Amino acid sequence: MLETANGSQNTFEDDVIDGLSQVQKTIPCRWLYDERGSELFEEITVLPEYYPTRTETGILSQYAVEIADHVGPHATVVEYGAGASVKTRILIDALEEVSTYIPVDISAEFLQTSAASLQKDYPNLDIEPVVADFLSTVDLPEKSAEGARVGFFPGSTIGNLESSEITGFMQRAREDLGAGAQFVLGADLKKDPNILIPAYDDSAGITSEFNLNLLRRINGELDANFDVASFNHEARWNDHDARIEMHLVSERDQSVEISGKTFDFRQGETVHTENSRKFEIDVLKKLIGQCGWQMADSWVDEDSLFSVLLFKAI
Ligand code: AVI
Repeated sequence: MLETANGSQNTFEDDVIDGLSQVQKTIPCRWLYDERGSELFEEITVLPEYYPTRTETGILSQYAVEIADHVGPHATVVEYGAGASVKTRILIDALEEVSTYIPVDISAEFLQTSAASLQKDYPNLDIEPVVADFLSTVDLPEKSAEGARVGFFPGSTIGNLESSEITGFMQRAREDLGAGAQFVLGADLKKDPNILIPAYDDSAGITSEFNLNLLRRINGELDANFDVASFNHEARWNDHDARIEMHLVSERDQSVEISGKTFDFRQGETVHTENSRKFEIDVLKKLIGQCGWQMADSWVDEDSLFSVLLFKAI
């Protein structure tokens, strides 16, 4: 049975109006993922320039036995922002007799579809989806199995969060997953901007579409009149904060009406739409080490592009 959502984040309208009223106009990246945005993101994950998805999948496959040795048998896997993706299947296949799989996602519809598809391939797996915003409170089903609860947060979505959001999330996960818990985390690594920029500004223009789709979404959902063709996608490397930033750059001076309010844009002015942080493993080890977890192992690919980190509850 599906648990119900209990998150309490701002509405789309609040975030857009507040964000565009700031000196550096900004809109939280979670609003990039309407239906079209989610489809475009899926397309991004298979782009030749976008190395994270295939690299992380490779690391999980290569080190599956080592991960399974840490976790032990009869685990309950709790996946945050669950995709029931190829990566989920690699982890479930690797672990010895997973007792329960709990995907946690904000979208009930998405959870239902992905859980059904997983159940087809794993008819004996107990799947208990939970509809929740994992940045708020997640009510997990009672612990029934004897094995450990294992948090799984792949994809380097952690890189889209502020440090305070990371520590809040990891502290709550530590409490929710309980004694003996472990956590498998995918995190993208700091590297040459010559690799990073094309990964976020691909030659096929899919990431550009993904970013511009936010303006289309605002037009469609908030009674707004963005001239989408007069904005350009930009991927910037911010060395100081070790992050790729996505911006939408206004080509000209212009005004936009949104829900009866007027917003002025100067030529070259940007809306900051996403941060994608690139980590050094030690930075995450320390940050997450403050949240009741100790890093027990880490794996990277041979080019040190991406990492998979394993934490144990202390
Ligand atoms: C979902 N997240 C981990 C992606 C990233 O790489 O930060 C989102 C993305 N933005 C542009 N391309 C991919």
